[in-house]
Amino acid sequence: MAKKLLLLDVDAGVDDAQAIMMALAAPNVQILGITCTHGNTEIDNVCKNVLRVLKVCKRTEIPVYRGAASALLGDQLTASQYHGQDGLGDVPDPNAPELEHIHAEHAVNAMIRIATEHAGQVSLVATGPQTNVALALKMDPTFPSKLKHLYIMGGNMEGRGNVSVCSEFNFAADPEAAYVVLNHFTCPIYITTWEYCLRHALPWEFFKEWLHQGTKKACFMKKITAHSETFAKAKQGRKELYFGPGFVPCDSFAMAAAIDESVVTDYIQYGVSVELQGSLTRGMMVMDTLNHLKKQNRAIILTKCDVEKFKLLMMSALK
Ligand code: RIB
Repeated sequence: MAKKLLLLDVDAGVDDAQAIMMALAAPNVQILGITCTHGNTEIDNVCKNVLRVLKVCKRTEIPVYRGAASALLGDQLTASQYHGQDGLGDVPDPNAPELEHIHAEHAVNAMIRIATEHAGQVSLVATGPQTNVALALKMDPTFPSKLKHLYIMGGNMEGRGNVSVCSEFNFAADPEAAYVVLNHFTCPIYITTWEYCLRHALPWEFFKEWLHQGTKKACFMKKITAHSETFAKAKQGRKELYFGPGFVPCDSFAMAAAIDESVVTDYIQYGVSVELQGSLTRGMMVMDTLNHLKKQNRAIILTKCDVEKFKLLMMSALK
């Protein structure tokens, strides 16, 4: 069976790290490159964090590229309250790889080059703000036609927010970029929304089993997730569903769909866009359930996941 060719655009981030490790462990997947974007933490931390993940997985041959350091309009939103200041739980590794291992080619140029070299065969999995993805379209308008699929973790289907009343972090961090991508990408777009993640939150008992597999990867994950576990449980204790009612590995839900489509057991399909002006709703994903926008490319919005299959992919990530 030919391997699935993936390009990952991440803002690592603890759950980005989990998703990268899931993809690295998937025998049917080949990662052609990892591009970094601003988001959960500032761009150099994202680059360092990706290098750390590749080191612990002994996959440092995978090229990593530095991308956008801020949103299209220049704003910078981070999620350090959940991911830690450094984006990986604030447990620094004195032997972490240096930034010199980041390739000199800009992430957006690398995305375009890789998609061109493998036209129609590469799926892009974007688990951070859409800034690099939007820039790739602006620099090469044929970029979307070169992709097989685009998998996005971001947005919402019922107006549920996590970093604001109505917006999910990745879309809130660069609403204009999300708008450009959802309105101009012509390839199939699979969207893992915030509500999809909340709906499939895993029990903390599974989280504990997942971390206690006795491997170096599990030990690494236990260290980097301690901060976000404390944060999430504190929020749940105050009945604030900031990160859901259990363990919510958002980016892994999107990655699982890219690795094995059978993990997704139901979906809806609508034209989508992003609100840019609303004082309460800026960054909110809009689903055109009435087809008023008459969009040609209707996004595939995941609604149901085979949780047992998902758990197996999660466990494999740390073996
Ligand atoms: O809203 C969830 C998203 O924002 C995930 O990509 C996670 O990394 C957080 O930063």
